[in-house]
Amino acid sequence: MSDTEPANPPRLNDSPDWLYLLREFEALYRYGSAGGSTTIRSHRKRVREGLSSVVAANPEILLRDPQSKPVTAHFSRALDLGERTRMEGMARALREVRGRLTWEYGYERVPKALARKYAYCEVLGPRGPIHTNRLILGFVLFAPNTTYPQHSHKEIEESYISVAGAWSENNAAVYAPGSLILNRSGDEHRITTGELDPCLLAYAWTGSEASLESPGMKLSAPRRKSG
Ligand SMILES: [Fe+2]
Repeated sequence: MSDTEPANPPRLNDSPDWLYLLREFEALYRYGSAGGSTTIRSHRKRVREGLSSVVAANPEILLRDPQSKPVTAHFSRALDLGERTRMEGMARALREVRGRLTWEYGYERVPKALARKYAYCEVLGPRGPIHTNRLILGFVLFAPNTTYPQHSHKEIEESYISVAGAWSENNAAVYAPGSLILNRSGDEHRITTGELDPCLLAYAWTGSEASLESPGMKLSAPRRKSG
């Protein structure tokens, strides 16, 4: 390309690493089981429909500044663990874009204890890098032995699929790589991660354009310590 040629913004089809990452999301939401739940089945379908419309639109790739956070020191280990499981394809595709991820907290004031142990990055959504208003896809990373405090999402339906590490939600069960959890709008949830390994979850948010544009992340009022 000559210096005088105007630089067109890159698009999804010119960015195979991003495209292949979306293929991994598509495979997870297409071939994973809904475990017999019609609610989960329709969430999976909404994610797939959003995803295929985004791919068909060949959106712009917004260039964001890569950012790390203290917890990203655990990212290599999380990818390595993911590559040893049936989440291998996702872990490998994510490794290819690792230098382009913008890790953030999402809260104006992040609790001090959490600032060293948690961060998330979006890969698709209103803020990019793959630009759309239809859906948000991203990853959240936790250090070992982390509690992510109770919270809920207004007018957003959220699913997590674990890529690496063991975790539990609301003290209800332990989830392994490949497991999916659905949190509907308003569902209160709290996450804890295992003692030894970091935990990496892929997530999808569906909702109206307005709620995806400004999700207003808020932790619920802290409950009295009851152990
Ligand atoms: Fe959540």
